[in-house]
Amino acid sequence: MSEEIFDLIVIGAGPGGYVAAIRGAQLGMTVAVVEKRSTLGGVCLNEGCIPSKALLDSSELFHLARNRFGAHGIEISPPSLNLGQMMARKDDVVKKLTDGVAFLFKKNRVRSVAGSARLTGPGKDGLQQVEVGGETPQVLLGKKVLLATGSEAVQIPGLPFDGEGIVSAREALSFDKVPEHLLVVGGGYIGLELGSVWLRLGAQVTVVEMLPRLIAGSDGQVADTLMRSLKKQGMRFMMGAKVAGVEKRDGKLQARVEVEGGAQEIACDKVLVAVGRRPLTDGLGLEELGVQLEQGRIRVDADYLTSVPGIYAIGDLIAGPMLAHKAMEEGAVCVERMRGEPSQVDYGCVPGVCYTWPEAASVGRTEDSLKEEGIAYKSGKYSFMGNGRAKCMDETDGFVKVLTEAEGGRLLGVHILGPRASDMIAEAVAVMSFGGSGEDVALTMHAHPTLSEAFKEAALDVEKRAIHA
Ligand code: NAI
Repeated sequence: MSEEIFDLIVIGAGPGGYVAAIRGAQLGMTVAVVEKRSTLGGVCLNEGCIPSKALLDSSELFHLARNRFGAHGIEISPPSLNLGQMMARKDDVVKKLTDGVAFLFKKNRVRSVAGSARLTGPGKDGLQQVEVGGETPQVLLGKKVLLATGSEAVQIPGLPFDGEGIVSAREALSFDKVPEHLLVVGGGYIGLELGSVWLRLGAQVTVVEMLPRLIAGSDGQVADTLMRSLKKQGMRFMMGAKVAGVEKRDGKLQARVEVEGGAQEIACDKVLVAVGRRPLTDGLGLEELGVQLEQGRIRVDADYLTSVPGIYAIGDLIAGPMLAHKAMEEGAVCVERMRGEPSQVDYGCVPGVCYTWPEAASVGRTEDSLKEEGIAYKSGKYSFMGNGRAKCMDETDGFVKVLTEAEGGRLLGVHILGPRASDMIAEAVAVMSFGGSGEDVALTMHAHPTLSEAFKEAALDVEKRAIHA
């Protein structure tokens, strides 16, 4: 077995790990990344954010061609679906991006090591030993080790994944035909995004959500309006409900759904379970090393150092939302802090986006959380109905809501439901990151006609002086 010494060994080549590795190399570290998948990029690139957005974009085009072109005066015979081609395009997008990470590793002289990593504690000269199993087992030695192994889909009792009928997002991104009836368990990010894909491609989609509201923790008005919009598109919802079990009968799956006042049987051909994710720490040897957890996540300090010297952790493994962009920020900040830079992640400004149509995007505090904590605030709201560009696009569902401090006016939160909310939220994040106010947004010139004018109007509405209201 060969032994090599690196300044930093990163375990996991997802968004958190690969960004940390590249940033570390930029800062002059010798870096190795151990990854057990055959391609780089982690869940996000291989079976999460990227393939789901590729399918969301394709299915949106199909939906537009089928249902909306007519209104624009474009007359076509009803389009037909070539699912194989749609999937091939998605795979190609994924390949280009995972290859892109491999290219960036080469460019930055990051060593990519294939195999499963296991930490076996400090060895010679106090260096961390990482055993890599795989085709060519080897031991790497690192001055520091960064854990970035991400998370996996949670299974629920009575609904074990079988890769065929009861599936996670991984399989739901690659069905070989459109299910007749897709039952989605969990009305969160994955359930609504993948539910939207298959709905647009012709499936009947029923979402079973345990709570009374979709996208837990989001702005209530956004969640309610999004639900109305998805219902208009044909998605069905069973709220305050749970799937107790699924049986196979006569070639169909029969799901037993418990709702208030009784239980109901629902026939379907696929069940997508999307009820959250859990940190992936199995097999890393953390228990033996004494790495401490807190509520199931690895406990870290402000430097992302775990309870064991020399071992760091970021992303879905530690506290906070399980989001790729949060992991990326932590990856860069973590290695910069290793080099003594005073970098920090601004956890008050982590945007969240649900890529349904309309899209739901938010940053900062919700009205519910401000009320709960008795914080005085002002709010402004503006509907896309009044926005010229949204009218041109024929996409007027939704609104922008701006929450500011009652005194001082600093932005506390922004919630957008509407076309391209995912891109619009960036302005809100920027203003909030700089400690800007609603007035700052109101006084900023926005190009006309753009969707972003709705943000300015919502900011003007805080003092009830929106122009086009
Ligand atoms: P989630 O946490 O977004 O939603 C899970 C939903 O399932 C919740 O509404 C919860 O109340 C419900 N639920 C839990 N147990 C249930 C049960 N037994 N029966 C019915 N409903 C139940 O989790 P999801 O959608 O699986 O996504 C996992 C993670 O991936 C999220 O934390 C999110 O951060 C991330 N993600 C982010 C995306 C984005 O940024 N656009 C896209 C996809 C995932």
